[in-house]
Amino acid sequence: MNGKLNRPERDARVTQIYEQLVEIEQRLIPTGLHVFGRGAELEEKADLLRMVASFDRPEHGARALPKLVAEALGIEAGDEMLTTSPANESRELIDKIVAEAVTKFCKGGSEAAANFLSTRAGVKAEDCAGTFELLTKVSEQLDSNHEIESLRRALRGEYIEPGPGADIVQNPLVLPTGRNTHAVNPYSVPSPTAFDRAKETADALLRRYLDEHGRYPRALALVLWGLDNIKTQGEGVAQALWLLGVKPVRDALNRATELEVIPLAELKRPRMDVVMTVSGIFRDLFTPTMALLDKAVRLVATLDEPREMNYVRRNVSQAVEGDCSFDDAVTRVFSNAPGNYGTNVNFMVMQSAWEDESSLGDLFVTRKCFAYTRDSKGRTVEGREAPQLMGDALGRVEATYQNIDSFEVGITDVDHYFEYLGGISKAVETRAQSRPAIYLSDSLSQQTKIRSLEETVRLETRAKTLNPKWYEGMLKHGFRGVAEIENHVMNTFGWSATANAVDPWIYTEISKTFLLDEQMLERLLELNQYSVQSLLKRLLEAHDRGYWNPDEEVLETLRHLASTF
Ligand code: BEZ
Ligand code: MG
Repeated sequence: MNGKLNRPERDARVTQIYEQLVEIEQRLIPTGLHVFGRGAELEEKADLLRMVASFDRPEHGARALPKLVAEALGIEAGDEMLTTSPANESRELIDKIVAEAVTKFCKGGSEAAANFLSTRAGVKAEDCAGTFELLTKVSEQLDSNHEIESLRRALRGEYIEPGPGADIVQNPLVLPTGRNTHAVNPYSVPSPTAFDRAKETADALLRRYLDEHGRYPRALALVLWGLDNIKTQGEGVAQALWLLGVKPVRDALNRATELEVIPLAELKRPRMDVVMTVSGIFRDLFTPTMALLDKAVRLVATLDEPREMNYVRRNVSQAVEGDCSFDDAVTRVFSNAPGNYGTNVNFMVMQSAWEDESSLGDLFVTRKCFAYTRDSKGRTVEGREAPQLMGDALGRVEATYQNIDSFEVGITDVDHYFEYLGGISKAVETRAQSRPAIYLSDSLSQQTKIRSLEETVRLETRAKTLNPKWYEGMLKHGFRGVAEIENHVMNTFGWSATANAVDPWIYTEISKTFLLDEQMLERLLELNQYSVQSLLKRLLEAHDRGYWNPDEEVLETLRHLASTF
């Protein structure tokens, strides 16, 4: 820290660092892998129950424990105070009481927990009864596990009871596991709740871009996944509609197939142009939703509005003034060829099978450039290969974005985030001749937060990869746990390759934690030398490709280690 900061600046900086630390501390992380057939362990169970108890669930007659505690203590606590503002003594007090109540619940049941809340905070027993009833049910279901039995029954071709697919925290009804996960009715997407939440998130996204760039992006590229839109009842879909400035309307059969234009006076901003890349799973599950998104773009393109207030119209008109047909100029929904899935960008990175970063973006377009639309004559176009159209659309993009929907899976846990969001961002960078601003949001808490990709990589690295609580949890799984650590490093590397979004210190700290610490190295080698070897190779590759330039001494040690395999 330099000496030039004045007092208020220094105080602001300290507060900012404090808030960052609390953000990392409070990040919910899985502390081990799910073992098929085995119920949750006590600590994991307590964490899950605490999260389940953090939300009002009127459908279960359950109130959020943090709210009940705040009310009983006479603390003014709006949603924002309880979910997003970390640096706050009242919030810390409330969290501490709730955590203790849940621990008491796990050890002694509802009565013990309710008694504690009554004595400690004055919460009335009848107010928290519904919440503890729900926790009792969830807890029993976490303890009993029928996965192996269900698998055996499935293999015998017997009936498996269905259950909804979601995150436990989002919908406790996903328990018990070991059932036949069913999806949603695509016509019910987006739900009214999803639309309300999407407005907030998309507005926050635009605010952030505006703050950083002083104007709105010429176009945005969105990644939409199937499972996420199942879990959130279509938040991603709703975000796209809200950015365009339209809302879904139910038809006579209560299906979301119609649209209503939100007047500019109500929107109070221009309509955004959005390019949507949907996964193969989304395409299969949400065919009518793709039609709705395509219809929305066509509708917005034909509105009689000033171009500076309607970016779709502006971009489409410019393309048509060139030599593009209206149908081509308005195509915005892309996916894989029918029957195909994925971008393969992850495999290319994993195999180190690329020379130039731009080839990763090109592969994304090759795999994802199939247009799904309906032309002016009403004919359905289902997966027309259109690399030029997609390239033109991406060439206008200045911001890329994906919504994270799950507590369990973040951007360094699986390779799919970098293959999609990273892949499209690299494709934009080549085609627009400028790197887009890359954002993620997580709709994990009641209030959504937009982060840049770089911020998200830092947060995930601190909360998971470099967090002893996370890696020790993984190491309990032996061979597989080391493979998970290596996976995280590979996925982190994927963000360097596709988006240059990884600070060099991250590679330094990974080296120090896992390879330069002799005791740790010995443990890892004992458990799984193959993953250690891959991890080491990946770090050296990160250096070779210019993503990280460690001290010569560190490099020598790593190279020496590599020579011993
Ligand atoms: C999806 O839900 O659409 C999806 C899941 C994993 C990887 C890619 C897409
Ligand atoms: Mg996979």
